[in-house]
Amino acid sequence: MIKVTSDVKTITQMTRDLPGPLAVVPTMGALHEGHLALIRRARQLVGPGGTVAISIFVNPIQFDRLSDLTNYPRPLKSDLALCEKEGVDLAFTPQKDFFYHSDHSVLVTESLLSKRLCGLSRPGHFDGVLTVVVKLFNLLQPTLAVFGDKDFQQIALIRRMVRDLNMPVKIVGHPTVREPDGLALSSRNIRLTPEHRKDAPRIQRSLSAASNLAVTGEQNPAAYLQCAKKHLLANAPEGFSIDYLELIDTKSMQAVSRVTRPAVLATACYYGEIRLIDHINIQDQ
Ligand code: PAJ
Repeated sequence: MIKVTSDVKTITQMTRDLPGPLAVVPTMGALHEGHLALIRRARQLVGPGGTVAISIFVNPIQFDRLSDLTNYPRPLKSDLALCEKEGVDLAFTPQKDFFYHSDHSVLVTESLLSKRLCGLSRPGHFDGVLTVVVKLFNLLQPTLAVFGDKDFQQIALIRRMVRDLNMPVKIVGHPTVREPDGLALSSRNIRLTPEHRKDAPRIQRSLSAASNLAVTGEQNPAAYLQCAKKHLLANAPEGFSIDYLELIDTKSMQAVSRVTRPAVLATACYYGEIRLIDHINIQDQ
């Protein structure tokens, strides 16, 4: 039976009272198969004798647009039913007014990897993410935490934070879960219009088409970017636009001048108000 609490004052003791190693899966809810895959991975890692905890919290300080925060889906009841079905032991569902003091003034900032891609187009976003993740780790004190590789800049920043601040938690990444048509699952997908939803697999198709250039030994980043851009924009529906499209070094997150080491082709695109991200690894040739 799942335990559910929003109580910030007792959560630490509650997690201590639960058996075995503790795996936590931080989420903002509106759970889909991507989140459930992380839950299953967490269970696999801690075993039947361990504890799997999920946090469900739409973290206001990581949103750069009020409309995105306001419209973010919050189906808490059905989320908890899914968690119960998946055998989650504990769901932590803090309320924003009890989680953040009205005059809270400390933020965690990463100063290098967060300056590009999503960090550039969503100022303050990663400060909000890192701050909430630290708060969750401090309260729950997990042995390990599972995050999706889909948000690859996010997980890279969390790994960097854990390394640089010597936080005693293991970070585990899990591959992106996709719809049968290739669209990466996202809580925002349900807000797409039917026309945009139908079109959205173009994002993965475009990245994939460009990544095929690696087979020919192509090393010029411009060739990859041009190819992806051509596919992204070809007959795109009204309302579609590219926020960013970049080919970056997997480790440094800096743009590469030649594709000679593992690199990532990453994009964020808008369908109207809805912003979707995806990326593909360009394999080392
Ligand atoms: P949210 O978008 O709810 O995602 C929660 C976790 O699910 C993240 O680790 C994310 O990478 C992962 N995830 C999302 N879509 C996925 C997919 N299609 N396949 C696999 N994993 C997927 O990311 C956040 O929330 C927040 O920023 C959070 C870390 C909870 C901090 O507020």
